[in-house]
Amino acid sequence: MTHVQPAGKDSALERAQDEAFWRGVARQYEVEPGPLNFEHGYFGRMTREVLRTYEQHLAYVNSSNSVYVRQRFDTEDSEVIRADLAELLGIPRQEVALTRCASESLQTLIRNYNELQPGDQVLISDLDYSSVQSAMRWLAKNRGVEVIEISHAHPASYESLLDAYRDAFAAHPRLKLMALTHVTHRTGLVMPVQAIAAQAKAHGIDVILDGAHALGQLDFSLGELGVAFAGFNLQKWMGAPLSLGFIYVKQQRLSSIDPDMGDARYAPDDILGRAPYGTPNIPALMTLTKVFSEHRAIGGSIVKGARLAYLRDLWVREVRNLQGVEVLTPDDPRLYCGITSLRFTRHADQSLMTRRLLDEHGIFTVARNGSACGPCIRITPGFVTSADDVARLTEAIRALA
Ligand SMILES: Cc1ncc(COP(=O)(O)O)c(C=O)c1O
Repeated sequence: MTHVQPAGKDSALERAQDEAFWRGVARQYEVEPGPLNFEHGYFGRMTREVLRTYEQHLAYVNSSNSVYVRQRFDTEDSEVIRADLAELLGIPRQEVALTRCASESLQTLIRNYNELQPGDQVLISDLDYSSVQSAMRWLAKNRGVEVIEISHAHPASYESLLDAYRDAFAAHPRLKLMALTHVTHRTGLVMPVQAIAAQAKAHGIDVILDGAHALGQLDFSLGELGVAFAGFNLQKWMGAPLSLGFIYVKQQRLSSIDPDMGDARYAPDDILGRAPYGTPNIPALMTLTKVFSEHRAIGGSIVKGARLAYLRDLWVREVRNLQGVEVLTPDDPRLYCGITSLRFTRHADQSLMTRRLLDEHGIFTVARNGSACGPCIRITPGFVTSADDVARLTEAIRALA
């Protein structure tokens, strides 16, 4: 892969619309024949090259066993990988520790956040990920805090999202900690993280950011978001092997997160002691160098994000005003990415409609529940999706509306 990186937003937009370029990208993936996949939100495919590299590392680690791992991986190579990740994120290496997934990262941060006193309040919204919501509710039982749950207005706007948090902060002066999801898995709505985090800071509220769906498809600077704590995975829009994630903790705030289960291996000021102990998927970690170099070669998050949002625009533009269809995710460019949800308004059961999309039109999607705006169908293109595929999706939505 030897693509040249576009310099900015305009060239990213141009590349996003270049079907020949994306046909070339698509050829880098092995795709099993079958339904047209519009559920690329679960996890990303590895490219053939990443898969091959992963298989080579797997074979090598399996044959060299602890001789390599103890002498080289644990002592040197794991640090090179961590430094590469930090460089990609534009933050100091001391602010990241690799984990096994976003859930593990976020639950670790929530469980080990040590600034809560009984009687404090913590905040979640209907758009947060279920395992994050339940981890925050766990705090009620185990730290004696009160959980404040808010629902976002529908349809959401930039102002409504900010207002929801502003109102919650004003109404609940004992709030100390909140969860915030950069891209919600329910509707793909993108939260104005920087603005919300600034409001939270003014109220002395810490934010734990769920970046699971943001990394690799949103162009953001982690150090500038204004959050001190965040959890991510690497298998979605980065296309890394399954089983990898990481925590981010701003250096000056490390003391607010306890070492995991009283870790005794690392110094108190070392973030590595904040990651849960266990033998990781070493071959997968070794593959990250390749993953990051491919990510950079394609043009990084700005290009990937522009492509996914372009494909999303193609279908949303066609069905936004269609009778019988409600697109739940707004068109404000600050608030959406490649993932967008819709609802067939004349049909009560959206799960049934995902079945019909599959059976009658060969299109694979997923139903999503849990947001206050109601059940929906999530549509997520991927890097193998073409404009022609989107046209097929549009026709299917029209037919079922
Ligand atoms: C918003 C969000 N948060 C967290 C997660 C959990 O990620 P993981 O599967 O890496 O634990 C997901 C997974 O889909 C997600 O969409």
